[in-house]
Amino acid sequence: MSELEKKLIAGICSRSAVETEVLAAKIGAILPVDTVLALHGDLGAGKTTFVRGLARAWGIQEAVTSPTFNLYAIYKGNRQLIHLDAYRLGSSADLDALMIEDFLQPPWCFAVEWPEHILEALPEDAWHFYLSINEDQSHQIRLMPA
Ligand SMILES: Nc1ncnc2c1ncn2[C@@H]1O[C@H](COP(=O)(O)OP(=O)(O)O)[C@@H](O)[C@H]1O
Ligand SMILES: [Mg+2]
Repeated sequence: MSELEKKLIAGICSRSAVETEVLAAKIGAILPVDTVLALHGDLGAGKTTFVRGLARAWGIQEAVTSPTFNLYAIYKGNRQLIHLDAYRLGSSADLDALMIEDFLQPPWCFAVEWPEHILEALPEDAWHFYLSINEDQSHQIRLMPA
């Protein structure tokens, strides 16, 4: 396990959106290819900011915004990035209906906000991150050990 993973499991404090993006970019550099990222956390915790950092890591220039209304976005860089907001999905069956699996082109990363909505559909080897806001308004990013 890398030093970064160990630190992430202990929990890393981020003091700005830029810091979160830089951290996500570092994670993007060590993340195995063809991996699902489950980004847990309340509104405003920094999930979309995190995905923006991943996009930077993989040379994606497009603006990364919250896909709440169009459910998902697909970006092509050194790695294909699929960004899904599962908030409006009622179940894993709704995910199947989107047929996202048909669009995956290796090496891909499938980043999911509100993964609780489609938990049964996520693979065992998904990386689960928990994002939250501390009392002092700094943000916390924690990786669930595999
Ligand atoms: N340390 C931090 N990490 C991430 N976002 C932060 C941080 N500090 C402040 N913010 C702000 O919090 C908001 C997080 O929004 P966003 O990433 O869209 O969250 P989510 O997708 O979880 O709803 C942004 O406005 C961002 O600028
Ligand atoms: Mg979001």
